[in-house]
Amino acid sequence: MPSLHWDRTLVGITCFVVTVVLWALCIWQLVLRFKTDTTESIVPPCFCLNGGICQDGACVCPEEWVGSLCEIVNFCEASTCTVSISENFIKNLTFDRIIVGKYGNSKQKCEPDTVNVNASIAIRMCSRERRNPTLGPPIILNCNENLDSLASQVETADSSNVSAIASNTQILTSMPDQLTTQNISVAANIAVQILKKPNISEDSQASVAVMATVSQLLDANETEFNHNNLHVTTSLTKTMEEFSLSGNILQPNIAIQSAPLKLSSSTILFSAQRDTALGYYQSTKLEIQENVPGLTGDLSTEVQILFNIINNNNGRVGFVLYQNDKFFQSRIYQSRSIFSKQIVSGNIDGGRTSGVEIAFSPKYNTSELQLRDHACVFWDYTINDWSTAGCSKGRDQFLRCRCNHTTNFAVLM
Ligand SMILES: *[C@@H]1O[C@H](CO)[C@@H](O)[C@H](O)[C@H]1NC(C)=O
Ligand SMILES: *[C@@H]1O[C@H](CO)[C@@H](O)[C@H](O)[C@H]1NC(C)=O
Ligand SMILES: *[C@@H]1O[C@H](CO)[C@@H](O)[C@H](O)[C@H]1NC(C)=O
Ligand SMILES: *[C@@H]1O[C@H](CO)[C@@H](O)[C@H](O)[C@H]1NC(C)=O
Ligand SMILES: *[C@@H]1O[C@H](CO)[C@@H](O)[C@H](O)[C@H]1NC(C)=O
Ligand SMILES: *[C@@H]1O[C@H](CO)[C@@H](O)[C@H](O)[C@H]1NC(C)=O
Ligand SMILES: *[C@@H]1O[C@H](CO)[C@@H](O)[C@H](O)[C@H]1NC(C)=O
Ligand SMILES: *[C@@H]1O[C@H](CO)[C@@H](O)[C@H](O)[C@H]1NC(C)=O
Repeated sequence: MPSLHWDRTLVGITCFVVTVVLWALCIWQLVLRFKTDTTESIVPPCFCLNGGICQDGACVCPEEWVGSLCEIVNFCEASTCTVSISENFIKNLTFDRIIVGKYGNSKQKCEPDTVNVNASIAIRMCSRERRNPTLGPPIILNCNENLDSLASQVETADSSNVSAIASNTQILTSMPDQLTTQNISVAANIAVQILKKPNISEDSQASVAVMATVSQLLDANETEFNHNNLHVTTSLTKTMEEFSLSGNILQPNIAIQSAPLKLSSSTILFSAQRDTALGYYQSTKLEIQENVPGLTGDLSTEVQILFNIINNNNGRVGFVLYQNDKFFQSRIYQSRSIFSKQIVSGNIDGGRTSGVEIAFSPKYNTSELQLRDHACVFWDYTINDWSTAGCSKGRDQFLRCRCNHTTNFAVLM
């Protein structure tokens, strides 16, 4: 049969072409290996999938992909779901593709006769469960509540209403680049009021929504943070310190971890590590270790803070890591570098420390920095600015600080 004959010829040609290509690749790889063996400065080229770009021998992937070759999917597909907005009101919601770690807004908007006209009626998150991007349940906005009306309810709200207020605030701040100074103040104030409710860390729905809100506020435009909202960001960071004694929450711009102190604890180390399991996928892993001899030398840690405990009365410790310094608007220090600064806070309750040691490992080349280029500072709430009192600094492969008290610390450069 002629068609079978042609099929065979085609298969033959295809096999031949594939074989030739494979051989060519092998030879090329051998040549490259030989070359890199002799001239060590040449970085081998890399093959990147899905639009990744090869830089210095490693793939830099677009947001939608991760992994060493950009081969791992990093988004949840567009989705539809049916929710009941209220009794006998059922609505189908549709969402576009959502990047892992982010919330997507529903295409359905609040009706024209509502307070939040044109705001998305719901958000949902895409997160990674094991290796697979997975969609969370949608969170529904009450179209007749805005930030001001939520703020007016929050002080008197009981626990049944708190989590509705928290999730509505989260939705209303889910487009950070539209937030004004005024919006940030109101939302931060709602967050403070909720975090001050008794036993709030046991209400995981409310406390996660509040931390998601705080994380979103840290994505707002830098220009919207100034001395008009300094008093509310001040009370927010103070409240976060207290909340950190009982909470454990990880959000893109905020990480909180707490632990009880055992009577035998002499040191306690908090570290935030870049999670490299998925190549260039940026996420943070938190760890608390007790009775360690000192800071670790592990260069993949972003921040470490070590408490030397001298007196322990069944206390607790809490840590907060802010991925940028927008809540800490300084009048004294004008940043000379474009890199965003991490702030780490350590708090101890029911115990005393003889001071803290901190090591920052910034994400950029530190060998170009001079020792005088960095300052170890803490946020002094009495002057509402950074201060270096009681802190000393050092530098090796890390930027190191040692301070005789605990509060919010940063390295400035
Ligand atoms: C929602 O979608 C389902 C099927 O996808 C359809 O049967 C139903 O009528 C839709 N409901 C509304 C309110 O549009
Ligand atoms: C809401 O969106 C519609 C259509 O995009 C637009 O005509 C209207 O002016 C918007 N309303 C407000 C209050 O922004
Ligand atoms: C809180 O409860 C009151 C009364 O039950 C209700 O009117 C209000 O809409 C609730 N707030 C939110 C944000 O759901
Ligand atoms: C924030 O910045 C974006 C992009 O520069 C701009 O479009 C937006 O209007 C700004 N938002 C505010 C509240 O100024
Ligand atoms: C943010 O503030 C502006 C005025 O500064 C206001 O028009 C807008 O509705 C506020 N946004 C939210 C989500 O409350
Ligand atoms: C908070 O939790 C503690 C212990 O679980 C409990 O004894 C206390 O009554 C709670 N307080 C409130 C206001 O719920
Ligand atoms: C960092 O900068 C130094 C001096 O400019 C340079 O020699 C070194 O290769 C750089 N390191 C990296 C990892 O880029
Ligand atoms: C920390 O050191 C500073 C400067 O040496 C000193 O003034 C301050 O009292 C010390 N604070 C504590 C809590 O020891």
